[in-house]
Amino acid sequence: MTQAPQEHRTLQAPTEEELTRAGLRLAVEGPVARITIDRPERRNAMTGRTWTTLAHIGQTLSDDVRIVVIAGAGDIFSAGVDLGMFTPDGVEGERSIIAGLAEGETDDADLDAYIAGLQEGFLWLRRPDLVTIAAVRGHAIGAGFQLALACDLRILADDARFCMKEPALGLVPDLTGTKPLVDIVGVHRATEICLTARTVGAEESRELGLATLVVGVEELDGAVDDAIAGLLAVDPGAATATKSLLRQAEGNTLEEQCAAERTAQVARLKALVGAMTAGS
Ligand code: CAA
Repeated sequence: MTQAPQEHRTLQAPTEEELTRAGLRLAVEGPVARITIDRPERRNAMTGRTWTTLAHIGQTLSDDVRIVVIAGAGDIFSAGVDLGMFTPDGVEGERSIIAGLAEGETDDADLDAYIAGLQEGFLWLRRPDLVTIAAVRGHAIGAGFQLALACDLRILADDARFCMKEPALGLVPDLTGTKPLVDIVGVHRATEICLTARTVGAEESRELGLATLVVGVEELDGAVDDAIAGLLAVDPGAATATKSLLRQAEGNTLEEQCAAERTAQVARLKALVGAMTAGS
């Protein structure tokens, strides 16, 4: 998910109707896009359409956008997947995940491709040209926890509660959350958190590095705004190049990372000199 901003804008942005059907709201103001998961009657549970629409948002964001904030409406981030997706009837307007399997109409390759499509809703949040922030109040369960993990920063209210519920339901976390969880807390703590499906509160999240910041509920919006102001104060080109470097650091040897730093810095120096020359 490291596409350059221009490469992925072939579609029209989702319409208000499509957003509403996906349980999402989107507000873009200059460099900041705010996405709200908005299905209060289902505790902001998300469906397949939520995630394909999230991917659609990512594909159609203006190149001016530098920050994406994801929050839940009301006092909860998200109750995770809409459990109706695992019933034979599915949720309204969407296919049931299990119906096709039970009827022998869906094979492994179909299901693999279906899940890959859902994962797209989470993967774009790693893009280097964006900084993504999960603003978490209350529960972030299962897919909700994984969505928060897909973001660069997690700013938590002190009532935030993470839970990787999937194993308790006989499933695995499959919405891109296992890698960031292990990267942040290590494989041993990740094993304990997932295999007990226990709740991790805000204070523990701060201790484990899952929370970038924990604030009182009333202070959450202000803390997010402060983070946005700080992030926007940095040169956009340098921010993109730096995030790209940081994201590849773990998979690189020191030698490879040093080479990547040099390449990125040469490009930055050329950009700075180019800007100085143009301005003189
Ligand atoms: N899917 C569908 N509906 C849900 C839902 C979900 N995940 N979570 C809550 N709701 C619905 C409830 O059924 C209830 O509906 P009705 O009013 O029609 O009865 C309504 O939302 C309010 O729910 P509660 O009364 O339970 O609200 P609460 O505030 O007491 O509790 C909660 C909130 C702790 C989130 C609780 O609702 C809960 O535990 N929900 C289930 C969480 C869950 O198991 N999620 C799936 C995790 S696994 C995953 O996400 C990934 C995957 O791929 C499997």
